[in-house]
Amino acid sequence: MSSLKGKYALVTGAGRGIGAATARKLSDAGAHVMINDLDADVAQQIANELPGAVAYPADLTDPGAADQIIAAAIEHFGGLDIVVNNAGYIWHSAIHNMSDEQWDAMIDIHVSAQFRVLRAYGKWLRSNANHSSPVRKVVNISSTMGLHGGATQVAYSAGKAAVVGLTRTLAKEWGRFNVTVNSVAFGAIETRLTSPYETEPNISMVKGQPRKVGLSNEQLEHTKRASPLNRMGTAEDAANAIYLMCIPESDWITGEVILASGGVRS
Ligand SMILES: NC(=O)c1ccc[n+]([C@@H]2O[C@H](COP(=O)([O-])OP(=O)(O)OC[C@H]3O[C@@H](n4cnc5c(N)ncnc54)[C@H](O)[C@@H]3O)[C@@H](O)[C@H]2O)c1
Repeated sequence: MSSLKGKYALVTGAGRGIGAATARKLSDAGAHVMINDLDADVAQQIANELPGAVAYPADLTDPGAADQIIAAAIEHFGGLDIVVNNAGYIWHSAIHNMSDEQWDAMIDIHVSAQFRVLRAYGKWLRSNANHSSPVRKVVNISSTMGLHGGATQVAYSAGKAAVVGLTRTLAKEWGRFNVTVNSVAFGAIETRLTSPYETEPNISMVKGQPRKVGLSNEQLEHTKRASPLNRMGTAEDAANAIYLMCIPESDWITGEVILASGGVRS
């Protein structure tokens, strides 16, 4: 395993699923990780597991939250080398049933929150980094739905597609700060977000409102069959792909969208 010893990382939405597996992977490689999540209890549990980790519970769509989390990470660690923009959830509807509230909520968490976190980070980079600084890493999480679309996911897919533009633009702006900016677009990964909602109804409380996350058994079967590997990914498979974009071996890769989908290309 490549070493991330002495690196400081922020992982958003790291209380469970892909974010939690990523925090563990980065920590196993030696990084100290700030664990953000909407849900304070799970963020604290993961932070308690990992040496040098700290929890920072916050809803990243709250006004000022992105600025505050970047300020807190820099104050706590004295710098920030890796930012993984991972927080998110799904809120399904066919377009004719999709409310403005649903559309805004999906765009807010999937792209505006990433934008605000990176805008705050960029302000710090301007006075703390240049071309001879150590290589720093940003990984923005997208989805196959952002690349290929997904029925009943018009707002989610639009937000995840926008992540690609955000990523490619910042790769160009931040090369001079020696920062690589990449996106990892996942296919179906086994987490709460994809739990079978007929048998395991999972509720995410967002702004005090219950949001049912998960996929139908039919969608899950279709998803598994679509992969040449005939399975969904695990949270650890997903974390491994993010980790690849955080280690020195990827220092010459920037502005890319890495597809981690078990071979699903549509
Ligand atoms: N699971 C998949 O199949 C899949 C596929 C493609 C992309 N993704 C993306 O991967 C990311 C992680 O999803 P996951 O599958 O691990 O889901 P998950 O539900 O297991 O974990 C997501 C975490 O994000 C947190 N979160 C949600 N909104 C937040 C907010 N406003 N502020 C702070 N934290 C917030 C949740 O509390 C949760 O702990 C998401 O961006 C998701 O869209 C997942």
